[in-house]
Amino acid sequence: PVIYVLNGPNLNLLGSREPEIYGSDTLDDIAGRLEDRAQELRVDVEVRQSNHEGHLLDWIHEAEAENARAILLNAAGFTHTSIALHDAIKAVSVPVIEVHLSNPHAREPFRHQSLVGEAARGTISGFGALSYMLALDAAIQL
Ligand code: DQA
Repeated sequence: PVIYVLNGPNLNLLGSREPEIYGSDTLDDIAGRLEDRAQELRVDVEVRQSNHEGHLLDWIHEAEAENARAILLNAAGFTHTSIALHDAIKAVSVPVIEVHLSNPHAREPFRHQSLVGEAARGTISGFGALSYMLALDAAIQL
C-alpha cells in the first residue's frame, strides 16, 4: 500500500525559506526520514512537490485511482485559498491528513482558515518536520 505525501507551493525552498518558522530541514531531508520510517513499517511512500495547484489535484485523483492507503497533504499557501483542493479531497475515498510544519493558527489571521482542513480527515501542524512523521503514523493506524 502506498501513501502519497503531497507538498504544495514554496516547499521546494525548505531549508532556506524562513528557517525560523519552517526549520532548516530540506524537503529531501524530510522525504528521506519518511522513507526510512515507511520501510520499518513496511509501506511505500511517494513524496512529491509542486508549485502548481493542478498538479496537486491530479495527484489526489491519481492516489484514488491507485487505491492509495492515505494522502499526507501539505498544501502550503493553497491551504487557505483552494476550493478546488477542498472539493478534490471530498471527491475521493482515500483519507487525507492535512500537514503543516508551522502552526497556522498561531500566525497571521489569513492562515486561520483552512479549506483543506475542512475536508480532511484530520490535521497535524506545528511540529516542524515531525508533523510529517506523526501524520505517517496516523495514516498507518487509520
Ligand atoms: C505551511 C503553512 C502555510 O500557511 C504556508 O502558506 C506554507 C507552509 C506549513 O507547512 O507550515 O507555505 O503549510
